[in-house]
Amino acid sequence: MSLVFTILSMVFLLPSQGFSQDAAKLFKGNCASCHKPTTQKLVGPGLQGVRSRWTDEAKLIAWVKNSQDFLKTGDSYAKKLFADYGNSVMPAFALSDAEIIAIVDWADKGGDAPAATEATDSAAGATTSAGEGGEPADSETYMYILLGIAALLLILISVLNTVKKSLQSLVNEKNGVIVEPQPHRSPYQQAMYWASQNKKIVALAGLFLTVWVLKLGWDGLMGVGVYEGYAPEQPIKFSHELHAGQNKIACVYCHSSVEKSKHANIPSANVCMNCHAYIQQGPKYGSEEISKIYAALDYNPETRSYGPNQKPIKWIRVHSLPDHVYFNHSQHVTVGKLECAQCHGPIDSMEVVRQYSPLTMGWCINCHRETAVQWEGNEYYEELHKKFLEDSDYKKGDVFTVEKIGGLECSKCHY
Ligand code: HEC
Ligand code: HEC
Ligand code: HEC
Ligand code: HEC
Ligand code: HEC
Ligand code: HEC
Repeated sequence: MSLVFTILSMVFLLPSQGFSQDAAKLFKGNCASCHKPTTQKLVGPGLQGVRSRWTDEAKLIAWVKNSQDFLKTGDSYAKKLFADYGNSVMPAFALSDAEIIAIVDWADKGGDAPAATEATDSAAGATTSAGEGGEPADSETYMYILLGIAALLLILISVLNTVKKSLQSLVNEKNGVIVEPQPHRSPYQQAMYWASQNKKIVALAGLFLTVWVLKLGWDGLMGVGVYEGYAPEQPIKFSHELHAGQNKIACVYCHSSVEKSKHANIPSANVCMNCHAYIQQGPKYGSEEISKIYAALDYNPETRSYGPNQKPIKWIRVHSLPDHVYFNHSQHVTVGKLECAQCHGPIDSMEVVRQYSPLTMGWCINCHRETAVQWEGNEYYEELHKKFLEDSDYKKGDVFTVEKIGGLECSKCHY
């Protein structure tokens, strides 16, 4: 019992003991693109001596967690600082209080000696690459594993068969039994002969083949026009998890047309440059992926100038309804007050966007049957809502759903 306790407490205590070493790593991963742990300016002020510039530790923590929120408190020091740095936005960080204190203390003392930074560099590299291996296996992978096992089984069986035959012929030889030499056969006849001698293997292989073909056919039938889970690899490894999740950048900052028009736009590379003019290194891919933004804009980060050979980034479309369907984002997001996540799922935790909902007619209709219309403050719907209440069919507890405003009529969704 006490052994279990010791092991448990070791497991829980270990991370907190490693904290001060982690500060350098955390700084490197989150802050180093904009701050130096010296008095030197980069994008933001040098952080050496920063403790003495802030009267209150809680405020300093609040600033690092979300500087834009903190500015709303009207703090005069923060307002001046923000203005001094030309209103550059410092991104929000989902770090704990203890982590922030550790980073700030570490930087406040001027960071590590250069040699020590090198050491933490490679440590940081090791942890990031260790995190990459855990891709979940999908059904296709399982299919290949199954086929692999089947192939191995077949090989094993035929090897055993050969061994059995040569043993048999040894025994025959010993017993003086004369086996007639086999007649000459064409390759086809040989194959047929082999099949007739190995009925079990042939039956097994046939079974596997049938199941496989059936599965392919079934997938094909069920998958006509349904791409749930579709997650193509994009030309730049842009991560929603990093931008919308960790850095809490609002969806509409990039998809700015979503509240006003039918389509949600994909942001142009210029929008990326609002931040990536300064942020030239990423936590996972270093400068490799970010430099693709520069390539698209023919931008030279050394001279900070744009060249003439600009070409748009060719993002691959994930969601796509057939042409005969009418779908409007602003109707759902602005009028219907739906969250992006209701249809797109937890995009802010996806490294690669995948289609979360089936986007079938049944999916649209189900939601229209179940979801109440936000009629308050909308004259047109208030009128309809009044009629709905006055209807003779109305019973107490009935919900004023999208269906009730005509959301199941064919012509609403089909041209
Ligand atoms: C994208 C650039 C960027 C990143 C990344 C960044 N900051 Fe900042 N930071 C700034 C800027 C710019 C300012 C100056 C105020 C402003 O314009 O918002 C600032 C100001 C600060 C200040 C106040 C400095 C002072 O002189 O009072 C602190 C503290 C701070 N940052 C800590 C951090 C920490 C800790 C991290 C990492 C967890 C971090 N920052 C990451 C850009 C950044
Ligand atoms: C920093 C900019 C940025 C932010 C913030 C952002 N996105 Fe995106 N989004 C993109 C880019 C670039 C693409 C195209 C590349 C891709 O699919 O990953 C995209 C693609 C998408 C797609 C797939 C579009 C298609 O091809 O069908 C959806 C859905 C989406 N974003 C939803 C969201 C939601 C929801 C949020 C907020 C939680 C959000 N985005 C925040 C930049 C952003
Ligand atoms: C509002 C600020 C902001 C905007 C706009 C923005 N990014 Fe970022 N981006 C960040 C921050 C913050 C990081 C993380 C930097 C870090 O942690 O060191 C980052 C990191 C990255 C990385 C590096 C990923 C890695 O792990 O190495 C890529 C690639 C990237 N962004 C692509 C884009 C693209 C493409 C766009 C435009 C569609 C874009 N970003 C728009 C703030 C932004
Ligand atoms: C009622 C469900 C629903 C909601 C809510 C919703 N979307 Fe969509 N989204 C869709 C559908 C359906 C498509 C495919 C549209 C098409 O192919 O014409 C789509 C496509 C997209 C695309 C690809 C470009 C396009 O317009 O085809 C982006 C980007 C996107 N959504 C972002 C968002 C963001 C950001 C939000 C939240 C502000 C959001 N969506 C809210 C259902 C929704
Ligand atoms: C998550 C729930 C949800 C899903 C999924 C959804 N809708 Fe809607 N839809 C709504 C709501 C809520 C409204 C009411 C908005 C309003 O108040 O006008 C609405 C309204 C509409 C309207 C206007 C109806 C009218 O009478 O004015 C159309 C057209 C529409 N949706 C099409 C679609 C299509 C096409 C899809 C599938 C691709 C879809 N919707 C998926 C919730 C949903
Ligand atoms: C709320 C929106 C909505 C309403 C209402 C609606 N549909 Fe659809 N319908 C869709 C969507 C979305 C698709 C595309 C489904 C897909 O691609 O899997 C579709 C597809 C279809 C298709 C093509 C089938 C296919 O597999 O491509 C037909 C036919 C159709 N609808 C007929 C109707 C008829 C008839 C009505 C009225 C009774 C109706 N729809 C009402 C959204 C709607």
